[in-house]
Amino acid sequence: METLELLIRNTSEVLTVEGSPQEPAERALTPQPHACVGVRRGRIWYVGSESALPPGAVGPSTRVLDAHGQFVGPGFVDPHTHAVFAGERAAEFDLRCQGATYLQIAQAGGGIANTVRATRFASEEDLIRLALPRLQLMLEYGITTAEVKSGYGLTLQDELKMLRVVQRLSTLQPVELIPTLMCAHAVPEEYREWRESYLDLCIQEILPAVAEQGLARFCDVFVEQGAFTHAEARRLLLAARKRGLQVRLHVDQLSASGGAELAAELGAASADHLEHVSEAGIQALAAAGVSAVLVPTATLFLRVRPYAPGRKLRDAGVNVALGTNLNPGSAMSENLPLALGLACLENGLTAAEAYWAATRGAALALGLSSEGRISVGDPANLVIFSCSNYRHLPYHLGINHARIVIKGGHVV
Ligand code: NIG
Repeated sequence: METLELLIRNTSEVLTVEGSPQEPAERALTPQPHACVGVRRGRIWYVGSESALPPGAVGPSTRVLDAHGQFVGPGFVDPHTHAVFAGERAAEFDLRCQGATYLQIAQAGGGIANTVRATRFASEEDLIRLALPRLQLMLEYGITTAEVKSGYGLTLQDELKMLRVVQRLSTLQPVELIPTLMCAHAVPEEYREWRESYLDLCIQEILPAVAEQGLARFCDVFVEQGAFTHAEARRLLLAARKRGLQVRLHVDQLSASGGAELAAELGAASADHLEHVSEAGIQALAAAGVSAVLVPTATLFLRVRPYAPGRKLRDAGVNVALGTNLNPGSAMSENLPLALGLACLENGLTAAEAYWAATRGAALALGLSSEGRISVGDPANLVIFSCSNYRHLPYHLGINHARIVIKGGHVV
C-alpha cells in the first residue's frame, strides 16, 4: 500500500469541524479525542485512532509530527482582508486616538483616499514585496486561506494591477487567496462630482475586464454614507452577477442603512461588518441564507460602538464567520486569534462559535466546500496548536498558539 507522507499523532483532540452552522457549535466542531491525522498526496487520508490505522500506512518515508498532547484543527480561513496596499496610516491612527473619527479623517482627504494615492503610485512588484510579509504573518497565525480585495486602485488599470498582484501572490507563497473586485470601495477623488460616471466606469470597463481575465471570484461594495448608496450597489452587483461573479457587501458598519436587507435581497454570499444591523436585517440574512462576516478588530481599532451582534445573528440561525479585515485604515492587524478573543468578549460568541467562525464558518462564507474542516479527501490544511483545546485561543488574548502550520500536506 502507498504509505502516508505525513502522520500527526499524540493529540489531545482533532477538531474536524464537520458540523453545520445551525447546530450547537461545540457539536459542530466534531472533536475526535486523541485522534491522529494521516495525509497522502497532500490530502487528508485518515482521521481516527492510531491503533486502527491500516497496517503498512506508516513507512520509512512517512514524516511523523508529534502534537505533544495538544490539539489539531483545520487551517484558519480569513474571509475578509484588504491585504494588498501601499503606504501606511499610522498618523491617522494617532489622530483617532486623540478623538478624530474615521469619517472626519476621510472628509479631510485621508482614509481610503490616502491609501489609493500610495497604491496607484506603487508598481506590481512594490505591492507584492509589501504584501508578502503580511501573508507570511497570517500563515504563522495558522491562516491557510484568505480572501483579498482590490479597492485601492479605483481606475481600470490600478484595479487590474491589484488583482494581478493577488493572482501572482497565490503562486509565490502558501496562503490560498480568493480574489474580490472592490472597485466600489470609495468614489475616487477625481470623480467626486461625477459619481454616476464612476459607476459607469465600474460597470462598463472595470467589471468586464476583470471578468474576462478571470481575476476575481467576488464583487464587493462598501455601502455607507460617504461611500455608495443602495441603488448604486444594486446596479453594480447585479451587473457583477451577470458577469459570473458572486456578490458580498460591506454593510451597516458605521451607520444603520438597511444594508443587511440589501445583502439578503441580492442573495449575497456574505454581509460583512454589521455593527448597526437591525432586527429585520438579522431575520432577512437568516431567511436568505447569507453569511455574516464579523470583523471586531475594526470596531476596536476605529474606537466605535456597538460591536456587531454576533449572539443575535447566531441565535437567528445565520452562519457567522470571523475575519481580520487586515487593512491600513480600520484594522492594521493580521492577528486572527485576537479577532477570536474580541468575538467572545464583544460580539457575544462562545469560544466554540468563534472557532467555528474562523474555520468552517469562514469557508462557507466564501463558498469553499473543502476548506475550514478536516475531512477525508480534502486538502490537508492543518494547524498543530501549542494548547490543549480551542478555548485557549480567545482566552490567551491575541497570542499566537499556532505551532506548526501545514498547507496542502506540507509543513510551511
Ligand atoms: O473593511 N469599510 C471599508 N473598508 C475597510 C477600510 C479600508 C480603509 O480604511 O482603508 C474596512 O473596514
